Amino acid sequence: MLPTDHLMEKLVSLAKRRGFVFQSSEIYGGLGSVWDYGPLGVELKKNIKERWWRSLVHERDDIEGLDAAILMHPKVWEASGHVAGFTDPLVDCKHCKNRFRADDPRIKGTPGEPTAQCPVCGSKGTLTAPRMFNLMFKTFMGPVEEAAAVVYLRPETAQGIYVNFLNVLQSSRQKVPFGIAQIGKAFRNEITPGNFTFRTREFEQMEMQFFVKPGTDQEWFEFWRQERMKWLVGLGIRPAKLRFHQHTKDELAHYAKDAYDIQYEFPFGWQEFEGIHNRTNFDLSRHQEYSGKKLEYLDAATNERFIPYVVETSAGADRTTLVVMADAYHEEDVEGEKRVVLRVHPAIAPLKAAVFPLVNKDGMPDLARRIYDDLRRHFNAFFDDGGSIGRRYRRQDEAGTPFGITVDGQTTQDGTVTVRDRDTLVQVRVAADGLVGYLAERLRG
Ligand code: GAP
Repeated sequence: MLPTDHLMEKLVSLAKRRGFVFQSSEIYGGLGSVWDYGPLGVELKKNIKERWWRSLVHERDDIEGLDAAILMHPKVWEASGHVAGFTDPLVDCKHCKNRFRADDPRIKGTPGEPTAQCPVCGSKGTLTAPRMFNLMFKTFMGPVEEAAAVVYLRPETAQGIYVNFLNVLQSSRQKVPFGIAQIGKAFRNEITPGNFTFRTREFEQMEMQFFVKPGTDQEWFEFWRQERMKWLVGLGIRPAKLRFHQHTKDELAHYAKDAYDIQYEFPFGWQEFEGIHNRTNFDLSRHQEYSGKKLEYLDAATNERFIPYVVETSAGADRTTLVVMADAYHEEDVEGEKRVVLRVHPAIAPLKAAVFPLVNKDGMPDLARRIYDDLRRHFNAFFDDGGSIGRRYRRQDEAGTPFGITVDGQTTQDGTVTVRDRDTLVQVRVAADGLVGYLAERLRG
């Protein structure tokens, strides 16, 4: 096992070197806590999102998909409680102009009092009393800034689902209990972002709101809590690195009756990357109140009317991707040489296979190209004829590519290739004709 602080540094360096994650606007010095996904990163994150979508929307018949806009009517955020309550208490240092959360453990003393000392410049008595700071980004809709309406970049995708509850119910002919799932960007002007892509100002959420009859909510809450953990284990994350954390009364969000975080043991400690919340009928009731539109459900069997309760599963696509990368990163000694390998689950690996001609002669490059052309009609594959075969294998180990396919002298005679397994390093000979089927079988799951 690597010392934990080094693991994070190595991961950030690998992410940049291999094209998983780059700093946003890097040539201009970067933009604080905003990140871009490179060629391998975009594939990994997309595969995770697709797997999430498939397991909820396609493989179940009681969940529908949705893609709501980022910009919403400003009243949505009054109803949801975000305008009044989505705030952090902040203090400023009048001397060095740094800004901190009021509960920053580095602050000695009570901010606002003459004895309190700034943790950055060390001045005494220069910290302001805490002031509430809203985390929502604001922008202006319309051509003239002064006269235009203020709109917010959504801080969660969930509200797009609540305001479409009736639209989806009526158009899909679902019956309670049923769910609506959505993947999309969310924005928060975080005060203490950091730890690479863990806490950022622009991120993506994968959220599912499950509408249930009041009284059945705790049962569904328990069901979804277990389901989500199973899904994460199925994604290949080591179970020993995962745990639940139940929110205490102080931690519960304003809308929640009960909530569990799913935490991962990152190099910087156990941290949440997904939450399961019993949001009661808080959101739908508030939208009913603020919009004046009835958001009730009529149960045709019992003729009862009620506002459904909501069990929410809310995951960060970026945080889940970070979990996958941190969990997959391994360094090992292979025959006296260091090997860095990303052991991501083959089903979500950015590249499924890489094809190598052993040497650039004797017809091997042409044959390898043909095999590669055939493969990439089925999988995201890569062709590499540069450098020693050992170095080409190492490059794919770092990229997390589960299979390395080498075309050698024997291929030109009997039509077989070697398939090297990223994790076991075992090599087997497989007929090039049957390669697609062989890989499909091994990529399943
Ligand atoms: N709709 C409920 C909700 O938004 P949350 O716990 O505030 O709940 C859910 O956020 C998930 O979104 C988190 O578990 C995390 O994965 C992700 N997330 C939240 N803030 C984030 C940030 N600043 N950067 C990256 N991911 C974030």
